[in-house]
Amino acid sequence: MTHMISVRGLHVVGRRGDGGEVPIVRDVSLEARRGEVLALVGESGSGKTTIALALMGYARAGCRISGGAIAVAGHRVDQMDAGELRSFRGRTISYVAQNAGSAFNPALTLHQQVIEPALAHWVLPRRDAERRAIELFRAMALPHPETIGARYPHQLSGGQLQRLMAAMALITEPEVVVFDEPTTALDVTTQIEVLEAFRTVLVHRGITGIYVTHDLAVVAQVADRAVVLRHGAVCESGDTPEVLARPRTPYTRELVAAC
Ligand SMILES: Nc1ncnc2c1ncn2[C@@H]1O[C@H](COP(=O)(O)OP(=O)(O)OP(=O)(O)O)[C@@H](O)[C@H]1O
Ligand SMILES: [Mg+2]
Repeated sequence: MTHMISVRGLHVVGRRGDGGEVPIVRDVSLEARRGEVLALVGESGSGKTTIALALMGYARAGCRISGGAIAVAGHRVDQMDAGELRSFRGRTISYVAQNAGSAFNPALTLHQQVIEPALAHWVLPRRDAERRAIELFRAMALPHPETIGARYPHQLSGGQLQRLMAAMALITEPEVVVFDEPTTALDVTTQIEVLEAFRTVLVHRGITGIYVTHDLAVVAQVADRAVVLRHGAVCESGDTPEVLARPRTPYTRELVAAC
């Protein structure tokens, strides 16, 4: 296997009000090597989330993956049936969403929720999952890693919740983690700390990261390579320092100038 992720000619369409379909993602190809962090960058509506979800074999209601080959960790995601997708998601690839505050169940302790994917996928017995969760809390530089899991979501800050959500994504030791703008709601200082924690954990564990963001400062801090998207198509891609220092297209130049 040459790449951990390889997408060839991905097309996603959305349903229009009149029953027709409109292209949302057009002929997107990208790849990521094992252990690399690849950023998907672009303005709102450029198709970042749609592509990130397609990597997990998922299309939102009203959308459909209409073409292309998607391979993750040697598996053809576009050819999986429902049962294969269930064991693939959360196990081989997991997802960290933008707003952990609303993604967690307010009635359960964080510990119960963070270890749940490990139990659901039969990865670890409860005791070992609890131990691994504490290890991950420590790796994420969370305060009081031994006891923080006993709290409920409303007892933590936004930055802490995002780190706990990343711990939950990592509990099954996936090959790939998709981060979909997980720091957008945080203030700049907290964002830098949280990004540092994410990056450290990915690098130490050799996990491949897909990092969705509209913010080139975030790309600079977290990503080895970047794919710039515009209107659902790839505008340019390359090593992060190269894309930021010498953008080849007017659109990327605009993004860099606005940063
Ligand atoms: N269910 C849907 N049906 C039809 N079109 C959709 C649907 N969901 C999203 N779209 C359209 O697909 C395009 C890409 O959406 P997507 O959510 O991937 O963008 P994004 O780059 O993640 O934006 P943001 O930065 O705002 O999260 C948008 O133009 C959006 O309007
Ligand atoms: Mg999005």
